[in-house]
Amino acid sequence: MSIAVRYFTRSGNTKKLADAIAGRLGVEAKTVDNGLLERADILFLGCSYYAFDVDDAVKEFIRANRWNIGTIVLFGTSAMMKSVYKPVKKIADEAGVKLATEEFHCRGQFHFAHKGRPNEEDIKMAADFAESAAKKLG
Ligand SMILES: Cc1cc2nc3c(=O)[nH]c(=O)nc-3n(C[C@H](O)[C@H](O)[C@H](O)COP(=O)(O)O)c2cc1C
Repeated sequence: MSIAVRYFTRSGNTKKLADAIAGRLGVEAKTVDNGLLERADILFLGCSYYAFDVDDAVKEFIRANRWNIGTIVLFGTSAMMKSVYKPVKKIADEAGVKLATEEFHCRGQFHFAHKGRPNEEDIKMAADFAESAAKKLG
């Protein structure tokens, strides 16, 4: 089973989760600027909310790499929202890519709100989540 980790970040919060997830799974976390050169049976995809949507770079990544994606498993951070499932599901459906219902999402620091998040506990929970999702879906 092949696993890849890709993420988009503006202020580094989601990268913290991506690095922990990739470290636990023994792969390298890369930004969505790095296309999938080989098929990923499970793609852990990290993204956050910006003005009530995910960044266009995430959408474009899914579209451009659709032939190399088995199942997407989402993770991310945001200030208020609890999931990025809905906007990503729309893009995944249009691209014909499977999106797992399992997702990890936690608070991310936004100016003075949620200072220090994701914290150590969030980061460990993200890695635990990824390990069990990989076992379940693999
Ligand atoms: C321009 C901008 C717009 C944002 N809009 C939202 C939003 O609509 N909903 C929300 O919950 N968080 C919003 N946030 C907060 C981010 O989702 C949060 O800080 C997240 O952890 C950022 O992740 P990153 O550091 O990986 O980019 C916004 C942040 C920025 C910078």
